[in-house]
Amino acid sequence: MSVLDEFESIRQQFPILDQQIHGHPLVYLDSAATSQKPESVIEAESEFYRTINAGVHRGAHELAARSTVAFEESRAKIARLVNANAQEGEEEIVFTAGATASLNLLATAFGNASLGQGGAAAQRFALHAGDEIVVSKAEHHSVLLPFQELAQRTGATLKWFDLDDEGRVLADTASTVITAQTKVVAITHVGNTTGAITNIAPIVKRAHEVGAIVVLDACQSVPHLAVDFHALDVDFAAWSAHKMYGPTGVGFLYGKRELLEALPPANFGGSMVELAFMDKPAQYMAPPARFEAGTQPVAQIVAAGVAADWLMNIGMERVEAHEAMITRELLKLGEVEGVRILGPNSPEQRIGTVAFDVAGVHPHDVGQFIDAQGIAIRVGHHCAQPVHRHFGVFASNRASSAVYNSPQEAQQLVDAVAGVRAFFRVK
Ligand SMILES: Cc1ncc(COP(=O)(O)O)c(C=O)c1O
Repeated sequence: MSVLDEFESIRQQFPILDQQIHGHPLVYLDSAATSQKPESVIEAESEFYRTINAGVHRGAHELAARSTVAFEESRAKIARLVNANAQEGEEEIVFTAGATASLNLLATAFGNASLGQGGAAAQRFALHAGDEIVVSKAEHHSVLLPFQELAQRTGATLKWFDLDDEGRVLADTASTVITAQTKVVAITHVGNTTGAITNIAPIVKRAHEVGAIVVLDACQSVPHLAVDFHALDVDFAAWSAHKMYGPTGVGFLYGKRELLEALPPANFGGSMVELAFMDKPAQYMAPPARFEAGTQPVAQIVAAGVAADWLMNIGMERVEAHEAMITRELLKLGEVEGVRILGPNSPEQRIGTVAFDVAGVHPHDVGQFIDAQGIAIRVGHHCAQPVHRHFGVFASNRASSAVYNSPQEAQQLVDAVAGVRAFFRVK
C-alpha cells in the first residue's frame, strides 16, 4: 500500500494544515525549514506534562522513575530510526537542543581535545597547525561556521569539496581533497538548498583510509530517506527533531560508541558528572550523560520519540516513494520560462527540496506572490550562502515537501510560479 492510498488519514493527523491562508487552503511547502507535527506528537507533549512531568535520572519518587523510562525509551526509538545502538551502556544517541547544538558540541569537544582535555584517548580528535578540516560548498552555516571556527582556534586549515553545475558534492574528488593531513570531514548528507543526496561512500572510505573522523549533517536526510548510520559507517551525525515531525528545541548527536566514550565533554554542569571536588578535576559520567549537562527538555524529547515511531509506522521506504512522486512534480518548475532550478534537474539522487530562481524577480516578491495564493515556501539564502554564490545568486526561493503533501499541491505551486513573471511584468 502506498502513502497515497491512505493519504487522507495521514493528512488529517496534521491539524495545522486544515486552514485557509488569504482565502485559500494552506499548501505548506516549507518543511525543510520545519515540518508540521501530527496530533500524536502534539498530544504526547501535553500528556507528559499532564501525567508524568518530573526531572529524569534523579529523585526517588515514582514520577521521576516514569519520566526517566519515557526519556530513555525515546532515545531507543530515535536509535531505531537510524539503526544506532540503544542498549544501556551502549547508547549511541545524545540529546541536544538541535542540529546546530550537536555540531557545536562536536566542534567544541574537538577543540577541548586539542587543548589536552580527555587525556590520551581524546587525542584522536585533537587538531593542530598543519591538520585539515574538510567541508563542502553545499554546507548549511551550522556545519561551516563551527568547523571554520575550530580551524581558526586550532591553527588547522579549512578545505572543501567543490560542487558540479547542479550543486552535487564532487565526491569522486575525495582522494585529492582528503589527504593524510585531514583529521575531520564534516559534510552534508542532503543539501538544504540543492536537495542533492551526497554520495557519501567514497568520502567515508577515503576519510577512514587516512584516519579522519566523518561528521554527517543528516538534517535533511533522516526525515525523508531510510538512513542507517551503521551501514553508512559515519563516525558522528547531527540532526533536529523539528524537521522530522517532532518538537522544536530537541536535536540528536549520533556517535559510534567507542568514539563517544573517548570524546571529552563540551558543556559542563549538573547531570554529567560522577564526582565533583573543590580542589581537583571532576570525573565525568559515561556517554550519553556526559554530553547532556543540565535539565533536559524531557517533554519535547518524549514527543520526538513519538515522531520517530510515527515515521517508522509509515515506513521510510514508503515515505521515500511518496516524496519522490512530489519531487518529480516540483521539478516541473524547471520547465517554466525564466525559472532555473538550483540543484539537480533530474529526480534521481535528490529529495523534494527544490530551490529555484525566477529571472528578474526578487525571491521576496516571488514568496509574497505565492503566499497570496495560500502557498508557503521559503525565500532567502537558507543559511547556505556559499552554495548560492556557487550558482551566482544571493538568494533563492525554496519549495520543500513532506509526507503530508500531495502531488496536486506541487502542481499548484508550479502553476503559481508560472504566473510570477507576467504579474511583475518581466519581459
Ligand atoms: C542541512 C541543515 N543542517 C543544519 C541545520 C540546522 O538545524 P537547526 O536549525 O534545527 O539546528 C539545518 C536547518 O535548517 C539544515 O537544513
